[in-house]
Amino acid sequence: MDIQTRAVHALRDDPAPGGSRPLSVPIVQSSAFAFDSADALAEAMAGPDGPYVYSRRGNPTVRVLERTVAALEGGAAAIAFASGMGAISGVLLALLRPGDHVLAQRCLYGGTYAVLSDLAGRYGIEVEYVDTQDAADFERLVRPATRVLHLETIANPTGQVPDLPGLAAAARRHGVVTVVDNSLASPVLCRPVEHGADVVVHSTTKYLAGHSDVLGGVAVFADPELRDRVWPRTVELGASADPFAAWLTLRGLPSLPLRMRQHCAGARLVAQRLAEHERVTGVSWPWMADHPSYRLARQVLSGGGGMVSFDLAGGRAAGRAFIERVRVARLALSLGGVETLVTHPASTSHRELDGQALAAAGIGAGTVRMSVGIEHPEDLWSDIEQALEGS
Ligand SMILES: Cc1ncc(COP(=O)(O)O)c(C=O)c1O
Repeated sequence: MDIQTRAVHALRDDPAPGGSRPLSVPIVQSSAFAFDSADALAEAMAGPDGPYVYSRRGNPTVRVLERTVAALEGGAAAIAFASGMGAISGVLLALLRPGDHVLAQRCLYGGTYAVLSDLAGRYGIEVEYVDTQDAADFERLVRPATRVLHLETIANPTGQVPDLPGLAAAARRHGVVTVVDNSLASPVLCRPVEHGADVVVHSTTKYLAGHSDVLGGVAVFADPELRDRVWPRTVELGASADPFAAWLTLRGLPSLPLRMRQHCAGARLVAQRLAEHERVTGVSWPWMADHPSYRLARQVLSGGGGMVSFDLAGGRAAGRAFIERVRVARLALSLGGVETLVTHPASTSHRELDGQALAAAGIGAGTVRMSVGIEHPEDLWSDIEQALEGS
């Protein structure tokens, strides 16, 4: 069935005692679970799929979220987290040890860049950044100590799209685990497991939950054995998803395919008109023919996504003036929600990168990032036009 149907009905097979069952997933707001037998409790401690014991190890509402996202991504198992950073840190800490080598995409979300720098500085893990448009660059840099290749399906904020199939195949040949942050594409536009990825991570805070009202993260595993290797470490880390947060995320999921369609349509209109505007010097949206990743974006994505970034003729001052002048769009840090948001990555989401790293990642001092929401695109464009006038 199409993902539009699966997103609505993914929860149907939920186990329910008795004849009837709630249409909505119950919120099991309990930190611990009671047993009648000491043996049963001891046995339940064995792993992630047994009876519920303690909500840091597993919770019924959270498990529905894990199963639903795993199904939408085409993965075998998942672990839900308190945030996207919880998912990314949890997976990397579980997979890496001192002496290991990591290859990571050159343009990455700033928080991920910060985790990788921290791993390098404090744990003796070597991190190198690689141009992911061509798998040959991975082949050139991979070593026997390389354990992880970390990618983003649509890089934040440049819209760069990696050669997922080529890179994942090369990584597999070298026994390297490919981790793909799919937050900006969502499983509606790309399912990295279908291209050979081993782990798919999400900030569910973004498109999956979609309403700017909850933080969350999830890691989906192509192979359940890898989930079993990672799970004990994430239980120790304690960045587990809260049942109510999981419920809010589940509340958003059925409309994900509809929202993504509207995000993509709005972003297309905004990107095309920005590209023709006299005050705009450059626009990044991966489904535009002059984007450096256009060919790969057409190959691995089924839409251009909702994030557009652009530079104004007036540089940094103009970019910052623009984000203060918008009225329909809001000046706020996140992305992927129903409302259009604008930010200035160099001073916010990517402030961890110094000038050189910003330039290498393709982020300008004045680049504006716009997460196009689901408003009517013409209303958005009128707002952008008036904000450009004063920028
Ligand atoms: C691509 C990407 N990955 C991960 C994160 C971190 O997610 P969270 O804020 O839910 O921890 C973000 C947040 O902006 C992001 O854009």
